[in-house]
Amino acid sequence: MKVIVVGAGPSGLLLALILAKQGIDIEVVEKAVTLDKQPRATHYSAPAVYELVRAGVADEIYRGGYVPQGACWRKLDGTRLVGITATGVIPEDYPYKMVCYPLDKLCPLLLKHVLELPNVQVNWSHDVVKIGQDDTKAWVEVETPAGLRKLFADYVVGCDGARSNVRRGLFGEEFPGFTWDEQIVATNTYYDFDQFDWSDSNFIVHPEHYFMAARISPHRGKKALWRVTYGELAGLTREQLLARQPDKFRTFLPGHPEPDQYKIVNFGPYRIHQRCAERLRVGRILLAADAAHLCNPFGGLGLTGGIVDIGGLSDCLIGIHQGVASDSILDHYDRVRRDIYNNVVNPISSENFRRVLQDPEIALEKDEFFKICLKAEKDDEMSRNMQLSVKDMLQHDFTQYYDKKEAVDTTDSA
Ligand SMILES: Cc1cc2nc3c(=O)[nH]c(=O)nc-3n(C[C@H](O)[C@H](O)[C@H](O)COP(=O)(O)OP(=O)(O)OC[C@H]3O[C@@H](n4cnc5c(N)ncnc54)[C@H](O)[C@@H]3O)c2cc1C
Ligand SMILES: *[C@@H]1O[C@H](CO)[C@@H](O)[C@H](O)[C@H]1NC(C)=O
Repeated sequence: MKVIVVGAGPSGLLLALILAKQGIDIEVVEKAVTLDKQPRATHYSAPAVYELVRAGVADEIYRGGYVPQGACWRKLDGTRLVGITATGVIPEDYPYKMVCYPLDKLCPLLLKHVLELPNVQVNWSHDVVKIGQDDTKAWVEVETPAGLRKLFADYVVGCDGARSNVRRGLFGEEFPGFTWDEQIVATNTYYDFDQFDWSDSNFIVHPEHYFMAARISPHRGKKALWRVTYGELAGLTREQLLARQPDKFRTFLPGHPEPDQYKIVNFGPYRIHQRCAERLRVGRILLAADAAHLCNPFGGLGLTGGIVDIGGLSDCLIGIHQGVASDSILDHYDRVRRDIYNNVVNPISSENFRRVLQDPEIALEKDEFFKICLKAEKDDEMSRNMQLSVKDMLQHDFTQYYDKKEAVDTTDSA
């Protein structure tokens, strides 16, 4: 079997790695000349780590990244409202602990493993402009420096991100959902938050100056790199955003620093969306991760949800390749992954975002999630269950749809 993976982002590379390890021929086509370096995903929670373990890359990720010890919500003046602690609550030997390992490290790591396999090709400067299929195969038309190429495979998977041409080829500009009015700016910043005794992840609740500050390197003190992501007015240009940035940091960062007290090494404005494609499967063409669905980054469900797609889709394609699943298993992929987006990822990520936009003075009385956290702070078992439940909420085992002739023959209720 041969699969064309469109996009060498984290989801495409992980899919290529898992499938190629099972002997499926893979051709990755990537529009850019090299891996993307924008400041994006940093934290992966248990359901994603489960797939990274299965792909055989988790040990290296734990070695190169770090395990955050907790998160909390604060008022603009830094006062702690409530938090969630992992230390002493999540068992030391739990194999799927949340890990922080920014994309600019994860993608090179995945690529290195992919390139070690003989049955994978990765082709850069390959921009997919058209897709098509018939009863026996699917294809992509690709613009390359050497001209237009047409590549064929049994399946094409669009892992080509938010502006997916594979999705556009299936549904045009239709991408149901909405775009938030707010825009956000994601920065990687060296600043000593430890002098203020901040948690590894901090969410500042404020209608205007809301932001998130998360340690993204294993270091402490002045050497620690932090992801500072803050809200901004919509409609500002990159230049306007850059001009406003020193005032924003002076206003909301603890210690009210001047520009010579921190160092920004990455600056990326983003519009944020809650959207899910109408279908994740049309015949031999599939969508996964950002190409399939988007959510805002507060709470880190974006790529985590994408990686869970990849794990499930891999099981489906491997089942077909090994002759233990029929093609209709891909309809289960389509239905289940959309259901989980609609019932879990979309509502939880939306709540995470609204939570930082609310009035901090009444948040502890009004916010149901904060009330639960307040209780969990005094009850380790409740806190543990709360933190570990995310995995089951996002995962789905598609191997249950592998052919189980005996089981079906003997169950009369089926
Ligand atoms: C500020 C910010 C913070 C985030 N933090 C987190 C976090 O902590 N945890 C988390 O889980 N998620 C987070 N996310 C979300 C996460 O970054 C995305 O979900 C993730 O990058 C999606 O991966 P992907 O592989 O689906 O798409 P992408 O990373 O967008 O990769 C798509 C690839 O496809 C290529 N491509 C596009 N079009 C074509 C074409 N026509 N032909 C060929 N190739 C093409 C692109 O060049 C790119 O390399 C965050 C996002 C943002 C913006
Ligand atoms: C695609 O990549 C492979 C290596 O992975 C290379 O041998 C081949 O020449 C590339 N094809 C094109 C058209 O760039």
